[in-house]
Parts: sequence; structure tokens; C-alpha cells
Amino acid sequence: MSGPAPQRSVHIATFGCQMNAYDSERISGLLASLGYTEVDQPQGADLIVLNTCSVRERAEQKVYSYVGALKRLKEAKPGLLIGVGGCVAQQEGDRLLKHIPHLDFVFGTGALERLPELVAEARKGRRRALTGAAPRELPLAPAPAPRPGLKALVTVMRGCDNFCAYCVVPYVRGREQSRPAAQLLAEAQALAARGVREITLLGQNVNSYRDPEGGLDFAGLLRRLAGVEGLWRLRFTTSHPKDLSPALIETLAGEPKVMEHLHLPAQAGSDPVLRAMGRGYTRGQYLELARRLRAAVPGVALGGDVIVGFPGESEEDFQQSLSLLQEVRYDFLYSFKYSDRPFTRAGRMAGKLAEPVKAERLRRLQARQRGIGLELHRALEGQTAEVLVEGPDKKGRGLVSGRCRAGRMVNFPGGPELVGRLVKVRIEQGRENSLLGRLEPAPGSEAS
Ligand code: 5AD
Ligand code: SF4
Repeated sequence: MSGPAPQRSVHIATFGCQMNAYDSERISGLLASLGYTEVDQPQGADLIVLNTCSVRERAEQKVYSYVGALKRLKEAKPGLLIGVGGCVAQQEGDRLLKHIPHLDFVFGTGALERLPELVAEARKGRRRALTGAAPRELPLAPAPAPRPGLKALVTVMRGCDNFCAYCVVPYVRGREQSRPAAQLLAEAQALAARGVREITLLGQNVNSYRDPEGGLDFAGLLRRLAGVEGLWRLRFTTSHPKDLSPALIETLAGEPKVMEHLHLPAQAGSDPVLRAMGRGYTRGQYLELARRLRAAVPGVALGGDVIVGFPGESEEDFQQSLSLLQEVRYDFLYSFKYSDRPFTRAGRMAGKLAEPVKAERLRRLQARQRGIGLELHRALEGQTAEVLVEGPDKKGRGLVSGRCRAGRMVNFPGGPELVGRLVKVRIEQGRENSLLGRLEPAPGSEAS
């Protein structure tokens, strides 16, 4: 019997950060080479791959409940293969195979490239976990197969050397490794040639980027990438406040293709908590940095992460986080209840807070931020924003939507002919999470 290779389908479920979104593209590319076509739903797929996150307990729980629910699909379709990759895989390794009998294979953060091998073995009924090797000893994944779109993610560095007391990332993602600038430049050029107009550069701590081949720093890398023809916009995430250089502030201020948008997680507002977290800066230093950024980069939008209920956090410490929001006036805030993570110093600290206390602090913090976000957005009413139009708005109200330079979502009446263009929009209404506007009479031209 001969004939064309059977068409197989794979569903990839991605959890967690943008780094995982990038890795999932790579997973999709690797599986395509084995004849798997990606599908949106797990139902009916021949292979289901989970790309997991373990940064917080809740993220990890989501993974377990998702895998649990897949048991039924496997019972209905015995040939279905299920694999788990990413940070939970790296953290748990073999244990996952032991505890979840309907799981077929496990691959850690450093074993991505060996996925085809694992899938081939799983097809023969061999269950394996590849998580032993330290991620640093393995090569970085080359460029993912780009799916043409307006926006793309590009990983510039991986891993983290900071070992903040609460964080599992250095253990599951390994030490910092930067990708060569020449490779990144080639990747950006290839993406731009396929119509990508905006690239977000990813790294756990992009500010410690160093070109392994030429020593270029992150500000230098941004300048090089800004020279790529056809590319209009660059963003990056995440920046560690202790490593944000004056050169980077200058680049944000002076390079028009670098958007005025910065994610600068503070994590806490009180000095004792910052010290216990091992963040390497004081509240005063953080605020000074925010002040310098605002002075140098007019209109810059700052994003932050705050953890509430770190071990030993007093009500007074928490008040300092609340007042930090007030002083910085974040445009974007991601806030989390502290949760114990394996391997971490904080996991072994005294002074753990009760769940209801953490939950109540989180509610107060988020309420404060909602007020600030709305105020900031209302203050933009009457101003003009440059928007890269991405498509019809999600609710199908005859609007199109896109992001302004500062990264805010802007919706305005318009047709599909605007998609992919840079336009000027007059802001008419600031909402909590988005802006509503109207196209300026003279439509903007495409990229200056
Ligand atoms: N508990 C709660 N939040 C955490 N984060 C990282 N580790 C923990 C933890 N153990 C948050 C930090 C980080 C974001 C990605 O997740 O705010 O910036
Ligand atoms: Fe985790 Fe700290 Fe590294 Fe961020 S800088 S990934 S919080 S250890």
C-alpha cells in the first residue's frame, strides 16, 4: 500500500508569557516538518501539545486541569498523543509522566529541538521525558517559521541571572543567553520582507542583552534593528529597572521607530520588601528612573508588575505599593498574589500571608489602578494618536482597532481598507482599557 503521507493535525495550547507564544510558533514549525497541520481546537486533533507556564501557582494549576480534561478525548480516540513542554515540564520532568498516565511525552525548555524525536517515539508507544539537560548547554532555537502578519515576536535573549527571591524563571529557563545580533537582524529583515511592520523583542531581561559575537548592547541592537527597511515599529519587553541604561533612554527618546512604551516591573513599593525580593534597587531609585523616563520621552507609557502579599509584607509595606501606583501613574499594570514556587528563596521564608489577606490587597491595588488608568486615558481626549490598524474590532461594531505608539488599544469607525496602515486618530473618549476615536480628515501616510 502506498500513497501520500497521511495528514495529521496538532493542537498547540499555549500558556503564560510571550516567550511561550514565540516558542509555540517554533513548535508549530517543527511539527509541520513531520506533516502536522495546526488546528484551533483540541477536539479531533491527532496530537495535542501544551506549552506551559509555572511562574505562578495558578498558571501551573491551569495546566493540570487542562491535561486532566484531555483524558476524555484520549479515551474517545486512543491514538491521540499528548505532550507537555515549557516551564512546568522543565520543573516537573519525569514526575508528570508518573502522575498522568494519559500523557505521552514531556519536553523541557531546552529540549524543544528534539520534539520530532519525542513524537516519533511516542507514536511507537515509548513514553519519555527530556528535561535533564540544563537549558544553557543547548543551542537557542533558530528563527521560528514566520506566519505573515503585521506584528511578530522575536526572542533576543533567554533565561535570567537575577534570582529574585520569588521567581522560578532562572530555574526553569536557565541562565541568560543572548542571540547574535547578525542573526536577529536577518530575522527582522526576513519578517519585514513578509509584511511584518511591528516587532516586539522578547527577553526576561532585555536590558542585559549582549551580542555574543560583537558585544553590542541592547540600545545598540535597537538602533541596528531600526535601520531595517519596511519595519515601522519596535517594542520590547521586559526591562529590569536595575539594568535600564541611559543609552536606552536616549534611544527611546531619539529613535522614531522605537515606541514610547516600556514595561518596567517594580514588584513592590517598600524598601524592606524590595530588599527581601533581591531586586537590586530602592523605591527612591525606581521613582527617579520613572521621572527621568517621563522627562526624556514625552508621552511614554509605563507598565508595571506588582506582587502583593510577599512573605512578611505588612499593611504599611502594602500601602507603599499603593502609593507607588499613584506616583508612577502606570498605563498598564499586571498585579499578582504572591505564590510559593519550587526552588525559590521566598518559598522558604517566614511570614507567609493568609490567602484572604492577599486577595483583599490585590482587590485594593486593582481598584486603585482602574482609577488611574481611566484618568490617564481621559487626559488623552482631544489628542491625536498614530495607530497601526490591525483589523476589525473584536466585538464587530463596525470599528477597526489598532495600537497607538504607547501601546494603547484604539478603536474607531473605519473599513478593512485601513488594515495594515499607519493612520492618525483623534481621541474622543478615554475608557478604562482602550480609547475610542475618529480618523483624522487627512489620512496618515504609510510610515515616515
Ligand atoms: N508569585 C506571584 N507573582 C510572581 N511573579 C513571578 N513570580 C511570582 C510568584 N512566585 C510575577 C512577577 C513577574 C511576573 C511575570 O509574574 O510580577 O514580573
Ligand atoms: Fe524572575 Fe527576577 Fe529574572 Fe524577572 S528578573 S525573570 S522576576 S528572577
